[in-house]
Amino acid sequence: MAKKVIEIKGLNYSYPAGAEALKNINLDIYEGESLRIIGPNGAGKSTLLLHLNGILSGNSHIRVLDLEVEERNLPRIRSKVALVFQDPDDQLFMPTVFDDVAFGPVNMDLDKEKVRHLVKKALEAVGMQDALNRSSHHLSFGEKKRISIATVLSMEPEVLILDEPSSNLDPKARQHLIDLLKRFRLTKIIAGHDLELILEICDRVAVLDGGAIVADGDTKAILSNKSLMELHNLEVPLSLKLK
Ligand SMILES: Nc1ncnc2c1ncn2[C@@H]1O[C@H](COP(=O)(O)OP(=O)(O)OP(=O)(O)O)[C@@H](O)[C@H]1O
Ligand SMILES: [Mg+2]
Repeated sequence: MAKKVIEIKGLNYSYPAGAEALKNINLDIYEGESLRIIGPNGAGKSTLLLHLNGILSGNSHIRVLDLEVEERNLPRIRSKVALVFQDPDDQLFMPTVFDDVAFGPVNMDLDKEKVRHLVKKALEAVGMQDALNRSSHHLSFGEKKRISIATVLSMEPEVLILDEPSSNLDPKARQHLIDLLKRFRLTKIIAGHDLELILEICDRVAVLDGGAIVADGDTKAILSNKSLMELHNLEVPLSLKLK
């Protein structure tokens, strides 16, 4: 039996000024799984992901890699569980691309040579090696997305959490990302609307709507269920319609 990497029991969350964003979420994620979280705008996808490394915390029990998600465990959790925000401007804050991608490894107290090597490898993985000395803020949105992904790859995480990773990527960069995610054998949790990408990468899908999980199971079975998909403002991907 595969190891349980993430365990969420009865997670509820309300934003201070807002309505209830998550309602009684129960979810177990196992080592090596690729889980896709789909659902309409405002369903709670990003809110759920932000709980997985303690950026938000509700009144719930969440365990990640055998650690309770609580203040004293956050440094250890964040060195192993890497999250890429939906908006790259939330991810990038250093003066240069190098500094942004090196930030994680530098904080892990690795020596300079090792940091350089990890940064180079991460930038190559997203096809942005030529941007090393540029300012992150002068890049296009799609380029920023790619650098954001590099900022977590450089940490060689055990769990990769991506919020809308393919939005704004051109077709070549998107295919590059798909190939990269296929090669990344560890646990992946990906939120987003790019349903064809799910078919290529994820074996399991959870549907979130109104802050609750309304379906969880095999990717093809869920994505080809027309009535379920339409009920939650989603669409059967073209490639499944044609079959
Ligand atoms: N900072 C915030 N303060 C108050 N309410 C918020 C905040 N962020 C999100 N919400 C609300 O919480 C709910 C869930 O939002 P969330 O961003 O998790 O949705 P999502 O599924 O990621 O949507 P999208 O597909 O647009 O990315 C929405 O009703 C949203 O309006
Ligand atoms: Mg979102």
